[in-house]
Amino acid sequence: MRKYIKIKQWITYFLLIIMLAAVISPALSPAAAADLEAMDFEDGTTMGFTARNENDTSVLTVTDEMAHSGTYSILVTGRSAGWNGPSINVEDDIEPGVQYTISVWVHAKTPDRSNFRLSTQIGNDANVTYHNIIQRQTTVSEGWVELTGTYVFPDDDYITIYIENDASSAEFYIDDVSIAQTTGGGFSFDSSLPSLAEVYKDYFLIGSAYSRADFAGQRFELVRHHFNVMTAGNYMKPDALGGREKGAYNFARIDPLIDILEDEGILSHGHTLVWHSQSPDWLNKNADGTVLTRAEARANMQEFINTVAGHFAGRVISWDVVNEAFQTSVHTAPSDWRSALRKGGTSNDSSAWFGAYENGADTDAGESGADYIYDAFVFTRLADPGAILYYNDFNETEAGKREVIAKMTEELNEKWKTDPRNTEPDRLLIEGLGLQAHYWTDSLDVRDVSDTINRWKRTGAELSITELDIPMGSWNNYKSMTDALEMTQARFYAELFILFKRNADCIARVTIWGIDDATSWRSAGSPLLFEGDGTEKLAFYAVMDPEGFLAGDYNDIRNTESGEPPVTPAPTPPAPEPTPAPQETLPPPTQDETTPPPPEEMPSDNAMPVIFIIVGAIVLVTGGAGAAYYVIKKRKG
Ligand code: XIL
Repeated sequence: MRKYIKIKQWITYFLLIIMLAAVISPALSPAAAADLEAMDFEDGTTMGFTARNENDTSVLTVTDEMAHSGTYSILVTGRSAGWNGPSINVEDDIEPGVQYTISVWVHAKTPDRSNFRLSTQIGNDANVTYHNIIQRQTTVSEGWVELTGTYVFPDDDYITIYIENDASSAEFYIDDVSIAQTTGGGFSFDSSLPSLAEVYKDYFLIGSAYSRADFAGQRFELVRHHFNVMTAGNYMKPDALGGREKGAYNFARIDPLIDILEDEGILSHGHTLVWHSQSPDWLNKNADGTVLTRAEARANMQEFINTVAGHFAGRVISWDVVNEAFQTSVHTAPSDWRSALRKGGTSNDSSAWFGAYENGADTDAGESGADYIYDAFVFTRLADPGAILYYNDFNETEAGKREVIAKMTEELNEKWKTDPRNTEPDRLLIEGLGLQAHYWTDSLDVRDVSDTINRWKRTGAELSITELDIPMGSWNNYKSMTDALEMTQARFYAELFILFKRNADCIARVTIWGIDDATSWRSAGSPLLFEGDGTEKLAFYAVMDPEGFLAGDYNDIRNTESGEPPVTPAPTPPAPEPTPAPQETLPPPTQDETTPPPPEEMPSDNAMPVIFIIVGAIVLVTGGAGAAYYVIKKRKG
């Protein structure tokens, strides 16, 4: 009996020790890898969260005043700038090139209304970059709100996730932070599917936009498989290259990536030199935010373009020299294209380049703020005569916007003919026009795209589709992906690629703006060809074989009950396209092109009616949209 009691005592001691160890161990090892998925601060520590750096005055206190779950949260006080806030280093715990879903619950304490941002900092030296993952406005009375978004981390030795608030002295609580792989399985794609670059090799280049995370693992394999030209999504913008201070150029991040692309035989397009957005203030503004004089801004532009375009000379095939110079919407073209430009000022529709060029313009001599556009093209031509120079813009399908862009191109190209700096009399200055092609499933009318192509090619410039994506929904109103919307989106991709093929004589490149839905800048609308885990969408099949897709050549695994494995369709070899009429024989612009016809009417010089009639007939014959298209779709798991 005594022996039995002793054994019982020993078991009790043993259990007590185990329980004690369980209680104290989290406190001894904060932020172990697994903790990233469940940071609830119930152990009474900040679990690895600190202020962002030594200049961040944030004070982090674990408190039981408030909690999203359990008893504890972190209270953040003492902030003195919008960028201050709780931050956690994750570089040792995350896998690069894989998508993570990040979620943080926040509760405002003061002021009553403020704007939170969940962001990530990559790098801690001259190459530092900051990405906002999600932002959200909230009020104290809303209580706990979730900030959540996805992110693919690059390979870097310094990566943080942090929470900031636009109000510099805002106080708030955070709780239940989770940083977990979105799919658990990472990213993989089906390399047995035909290469898009190969499918379109007789038509145009096929590209995508990249960030550093796309240079690892299966993401890079996908790039190598499908694309023969790449555009940096952000790294070649003026703010990325031009530095915060004048003269502090930074090519350290982009150069190795361009080297890798070169080694793979993948071309690079440069985006962008002169833009109202994502540009350092020193180019055209004083420290107090007022614009520089025309002469100062012009000298800065010339120096910037000489440095940047000179640096990449021979390594990029083309440049978006000027990006988005026109106002967001131009419904009807004014008689002078200049009046539709973004002007000086501080509205969303302004450009400090225009403002600065206007500041000191000799209006009697015909000078105006608009002159920065011509200068930008001339400086770039002189700095890199080998590159094809593009003007690039969005909402390019609006009748007025398409027209002012065409008019500007024609006028500046005419002016260049007699410019003494022009040593190539037969060559245009603005040699390319870029359709950004940021469309929406709810509002895209492919006839408008056709009209823009028809009008722009009459300028003599080559065209490129530079940033194609088609999110589900309409402007400011993203919709979640449903089977029906995925089909609508895929049909748009198919119709667009049929249109592009018909115009292959004047289209040099089609670039899709990103690789997968989760990392797209418009991820809320699932706009691209691949899902976040690399699974191809219907849109992929639509691009791979647009005619076959619209003709219903594909069986949709989701519409078969048999459970048989999907059969990967053999790619249809590209059919020879009818040669479009030479540009000279096209009629001059008609009123139809500046005033869009009502939807039932077809513009007269438009090739699209044939396509629409064929598509319409197929829909009728096969019995309506949902059932009409049966598409093989490989589903993982
Ligand atoms: C976008 C990038 O994709 C985002 O990552 C960034 O936050 C904002 O800019 N028109 C352009 C591109 O010319 O540079 C923009 O790219 C999308 C709109």
